[in-house]
Amino acid sequence: MNIKKQGFFNFPVGQDKLQSPSMFIGIQGNGYISFGSGQPDLPPPERVFNILPTYRQFKYGLIQGQLNLRKVLAKQYKGATAENFVVTNGASEALDLVFRAIAKPGDKILVHKPYYYSYAPLIKTNYLEPVYTETVKGKIEFDDFDNKVRDCKVVLINSPSNPTGRIQEINTLKKIEKLCADLDIIIISDEVYKDLIYERENYMLHGPHVVTINSFSKTFAMCGFRVGYLYSNDKRIVDEVVEIKTHSSMNTNIMAQEMAFEALKVSGDYIKNQVNIWKERRNVIYEGLQKLGLELWKPEGAFYVLPKIKNPRDAVWNLFKKHKVITYLGEWFGASERIRLSYALDIDKINEGLERIKKYLGNE
Ligand SMILES: Cc1ncc(COP(=O)(O)O)c(C=O)c1O
Repeated sequence: MNIKKQGFFNFPVGQDKLQSPSMFIGIQGNGYISFGSGQPDLPPPERVFNILPTYRQFKYGLIQGQLNLRKVLAKQYKGATAENFVVTNGASEALDLVFRAIAKPGDKILVHKPYYYSYAPLIKTNYLEPVYTETVKGKIEFDDFDNKVRDCKVVLINSPSNPTGRIQEINTLKKIEKLCADLDIIIISDEVYKDLIYERENYMLHGPHVVTINSFSKTFAMCGFRVGYLYSNDKRIVDEVVEIKTHSSMNTNIMAQEMAFEALKVSGDYIKNQVNIWKERRNVIYEGLQKLGLELWKPEGAFYVLPKIKNPRDAVWNLFKKHKVITYLGEWFGASERIRLSYALDIDKINEGLERIKKYLGNE
């Protein structure tokens, strides 16, 4: 039977067994090794749970986000005030709201490839037109960027990147910042991995034309609590986002916001410690996959690798069905010759997963 599902994405039901990451999200236990979902296995800071025994707020909160949280966030950004922030249901909602707020249907948005798998669907559900700039080993080529950006209203930057784990050169980021300011183009800077960077300090794009997106999901391992935010110096953007949120999700969960507020009290050592753990895992998976003969770029941040593999669809399917290993299809990220692995799991599991991949490659 050739039944087409009704809906925006028009997924062919029953024909394509690997249509989206949703088929893998939430699968765990039962002997599976999941290199799938990008959720930290490490716990959040202990103090986020300390509020639970006495927490008693339950009424609607401010749509823009709880003031105590926004005030602390403002301290992290030079010249910012609480008014520049909107606290959202994760970075996911922040991205959706900002697309809705700033772009008109048909506007072009420049995205560097490979990209986070939700970008294209989010862009399309907001009737925007994605334009892609190719990268070399995950790094933006400024000349190609410069050529393509002139037609666009918005640019979306994600460094460190999901799915490549690569960071953009500071020099390139500064050139992008300036070019977009000169051309009056808005930059949406998805900084959800800004703290998880191994090679150098992060460079945060900034300026009146930059909308920064961030989240408590990765740095503080709080992905299920769904707290993220956007930061903009442009009052029109903030007001528009708040207005749309008023009529869609309303306030972000206020208990989760209180937990986020607690998370921000932890010392810098918490983050340093996390980065050291991720870096050790990065080394294990990077060297392990290289030993298996796979070509890949060395991750410089976040917790993903994107190796090239023969027949990626068969690889993802057979690794899942025959070897109980979950990986994500590169196609979902605009990288059709590759698969993505998240190394947000402990080293024993990474090694076990590598063993199973070795078996798969041996029996291909
Ligand atoms: C680049 C990027 N942006 C946004 C998100 C969404 O994060 P959140 O859990 O805050 O919605 C993710 C999650 O994996 C991501 O990798």
